[in-house]
Amino acid sequence: MRAVVTTRNGDVDVLKVETRPDPVPGRGEVLIRVKAAGLNFADILARQGLYPDGPPKPCVMGYEVAGTVEAVGHELDRALVTKPVVAMTRFGGQAELVVVPLTQIFEKPEQLSFEQGAAVPVNYLTAWALLVTMGGLKKEEAVLIHNAGGGVGLAALDIAKHIGARTYGTASTSKHEFLKARGLDHPIDYRGQDWLPVLMDLTGGRGVELVIDPLGGSSWKKSYRALRTTGRMGVFGMSTASASGIRGKLRAIRALAQTPRFHPLTLMNRNRGVFGLNLGHMWDEGEKVAGWTSEIVRGINEGWIQPYVDRSFTFDQIADAHQYIEARKNIGKVVLVP
Ligand SMILES: NC(=O)c1ccc[n+]([C@@H]2O[C@H](COP(=O)([O-])OP(=O)(O)OC[C@H]3O[C@@H](n4cnc5c(N)ncnc54)[C@H](OP(=O)(O)O)[C@@H]3O)[C@@H](O)[C@H]2O)c1
Repeated sequence: MRAVVTTRNGDVDVLKVETRPDPVPGRGEVLIRVKAAGLNFADILARQGLYPDGPPKPCVMGYEVAGTVEAVGHELDRALVTKPVVAMTRFGGQAELVVVPLTQIFEKPEQLSFEQGAAVPVNYLTAWALLVTMGGLKKEEAVLIHNAGGGVGLAALDIAKHIGARTYGTASTSKHEFLKARGLDHPIDYRGQDWLPVLMDLTGGRGVELVIDPLGGSSWKKSYRALRTTGRMGVFGMSTASASGIRGKLRAIRALAQTPRFHPLTLMNRNRGVFGLNLGHMWDEGEKVAGWTSEIVRGINEGWIQPYVDRSFTFDQIADAHQYIEARKNIGKVVLVP
């Protein structure tokens, strides 16, 4: 099979398409012929050497795929073969074939293309956990979604709209019109101006009940200041560190140095909460994740979840795909097709 290999840490020239032996499904596993694989910000950070959860290099990245079942392990039902499915993959998804435990697949909703299917797991599970499970977002509460035009951002917008929350979102200005059309109440430029006073003006000085922040470093400090009484802040990434080579290392060190500390007594007295999410540390919580997945599939069937694929790149265009995200050009999901 052909696979996208991150050969070592570095710039996009370390990405190669290589031939690897076809994987074979073992007990309780299925072999999927990949039609589309999600590309995530984590794949970029892994290539830059800034993603501690990634496998040792050389490695095949890829947390999610959509495709058809090609074969099943011994004791599994052969009726699964040829079925269109979506799967969470613990790496290895950016290849023509991948093996996953049966528990990590679900049937692809008919109305979704394979590309849209591959846009579901990481973005929507992350957004669901942040907004619903941990953030407890309620109707008429206000939520600030950072990077609202990104993959997780658009997923969070779908869910927040369904809940009936008032939505505020930071994004590059080129994405604002799209975001408004998609239902975002208040797009905010966060690159050409200080977004906090703008948000405070828009909320009559009160702030918001929930912020989800994947930027990290000093951004977490500012997002915390945007919270209204009973507000919660969900932290889930450090995009601000993104860069290749020594620049990335320096940015990561700066982000760590600028990371705020939250004292329990201060949280108590200010009626605020701070929580963290790492979907990549949920592999032992299959039942919980399956519960979230069935809510997401319900949302797809009812039409309030609409995975948006911005662009597909072929495996051979992997360098362009990484550069597209690094240049902040993507709106929603970028997928790879073999
Ligand atoms: N903890 C978890 O479980 C989990 C799961 C999924 C994703 N994440 C994190 O969530 C964030 C978003 O992930 P995603 O896969 O959905 O990607 P994404 O949002 O598509 O990421 C790209 C967008 O992020 C914004 N951005 C902010 N800082 C950036 C930077 N330094 N360089 C390039 N783009 C930057 C840009 O949009 P604008 O300029 O328009 O804002 C860009 O278009 C990442 O930090 C990722 O690591 C965490």
